[in-house]
Amino acid sequence: MNGSILQHLAVTTATDIVRARSVARQEAARIGFGLADQTRLATAVSELARNVLKYATEGSCTIHEDSTPVEMRLHITMEDHGPGIPDITAAMKDGYSTGGGMGAGLPGTRRLVDKFEIESSPGFTRVTISMVRKRQ
Ligand SMILES: Nc1ncnc2c1ncn2[C@@H]1O[C@H](COP(=O)(O)OP(=O)(O)OP(=O)(O)O)[C@@H](O)[C@H]1O
Ligand SMILES: [Mg+2]
Repeated sequence: MNGSILQHLAVTTATDIVRARSVARQEAARIGFGLADQTRLATAVSELARNVLKYATEGSCTIHEDSTPVEMRLHITMEDHGPGIPDITAAMKDGYSTGGGMGAGLPGTRRLVDKFEIESSPGFTRVTISMVRKRQ
């Protein structure tokens, strides 16, 4: 990916979820995204970080920018070395949870962003979300 890494954060504790959420919002604001998009990104990051903590115990969050003079472009990757997701298609459906949750985190996150990529194998999960907006 072109551009540059703005932040790399460990996700190991509940406090890290709050921090990742707030850093995502700050970086989005600094780049120039509006309030609604800042909130979308913050919410998405907190859902993904919650999953990392719950299902994989620990992981990391990387915030990456590759804006151009015409577009603001922010990408956030949440990665872990937990058990992996055996059935991604099922995991992306509303209401599917192996952890007694609502099963709303992943499908909800996908609806909040412009691009949602997920890859997982035994011992590895990586979700990358992107938000792209034309500059006014
Ligand atoms: N990082 C991860 N590692 C392993 N499995 C995961 C991970 N993230 C999600 N999953 C799997 O995908 C399922 C769906 O995740 P999703 O976030 O949509 O729902 P949930 O976490 O179960 O409930 P909710 O987010 O509504 O509290 C999870 O129940 C779990 O089986
Ligand atoms: Mg979840």
